[in-house]
Amino acid sequence: MLKAVEIKPDVFWVGGIDWNERNFHGYTTERGSTYNAYLILDEQITLIDTCKRPFTGELIDRISDIVDPASIAYVVSNHVEMDHSGGLPALAAIVPDATIVTGEPKGVRGLRAHYGDGLNLMGVKTGDTLNIGKRTLTFVQTPMVHWPDSMVTYDEYDKILFSNDSFGQHYASSKRFDDEVGLPEVLVQAQKHYANIVMPYGKNVEAALKTLAAYHFDMIAPAHGIIWRTHVPEILDCYRQWSSGEPEEYVLVVYDSMWHTTEAMAVEITEAFMEMGIPARLLDLKVNHISDIMAEVLCARYIAVGSPTLNKTMMPTVAAFLCYMRGLAPAGRVGIPFGSYGWAPMGPNEVYQQLESCKFTLPEAPFTHQWVEDEEGLTRLHDEVIQFVSLFHAKA
Ligand code: FEO
Repeated sequence: MLKAVEIKPDVFWVGGIDWNERNFHGYTTERGSTYNAYLILDEQITLIDTCKRPFTGELIDRISDIVDPASIAYVVSNHVEMDHSGGLPALAAIVPDATIVTGEPKGVRGLRAHYGDGLNLMGVKTGDTLNIGKRTLTFVQTPMVHWPDSMVTYDEYDKILFSNDSFGQHYASSKRFDDEVGLPEVLVQAQKHYANIVMPYGKNVEAALKTLAAYHFDMIAPAHGIIWRTHVPEILDCYRQWSSGEPEEYVLVVYDSMWHTTEAMAVEITEAFMEMGIPARLLDLKVNHISDIMAEVLCARYIAVGSPTLNKTMMPTVAAFLCYMRGLAPAGRVGIPFGSYGWAPMGPNEVYQQLESCKFTLPEAPFTHQWVEDEEGLTRLHDEVIQFVSLFHAKA
């Protein structure tokens, strides 16, 4: 028998735990995930969000632990994406008269596109309210955090913000609250979630944080991972920092290599930064997943990317990373393209072009080395990198 978990009096977590999810459309989820839904017992029983379709049985079991699912009056759908709306058709079959509350117009359109015209939809805009008894829910649209339809639901009576994707983490746990698990690990997962899901929409996050400042809440109940009740200020501070687009004075050196010359260059670049007193991290694309690397990109001002020439182009691992990073659009970064070659520097040149298309600030040309590394070449690279970085480090 699956159980609901009371998170405040008469408010219950009734979600699904996806212990073995390891790849969320290309993003590695080494700690699994959860699809959180919340049941509010009031005069009008209200469910906040549903779950990914395969977890619908789990959702309905947990609701049934508290009430008959047929007694639900409202389902708030904060976000159309199917990890949160996948349970709607099954619920609508159990309780066809329930009103599904969603953002107007994007949520309404999105749910119709996914599930047809049979749902009983009610569109809401920012500031609209819904009285469900002693509680009044307030809706705030948060477009592009994570989709155009995204919104959050504020429960003033319980001082809970039901935040959907915002403040979430892909993190499966038998515990529900931030103070029951290791905070550093949860923050790592929150950072990875922000970097891989929300990073392109920093301006929208800033706008949402500004709007939400008008609401007083002491609990954030996201749609993924643990619930924030003790560390609300910490996760709000992290979101302010991540959405500011102000990276830290920190370098990430990302590369792949064939015969170790590009690798030797990567190590030398890392050493140059260390000599300047700038924290550095070296990541080989052969053994690091691009979604983990993006969590580091979120914080790094300097992004050095290296590839040798392979078959007249850059290595496929490097191309995949650059394609992924361009889509997630980190702004205000300094790029350091580099790499080795035998006959022609097509690999490092393509890295340069890709970093240029990311709108990174770049040197005049990539740092390159022909054939195998030698002491003289590495010393020259070391000095040239320090010279280039000094242009920015002095101002930082
Ligand atoms: Fe967790 Fe945008 O869905």
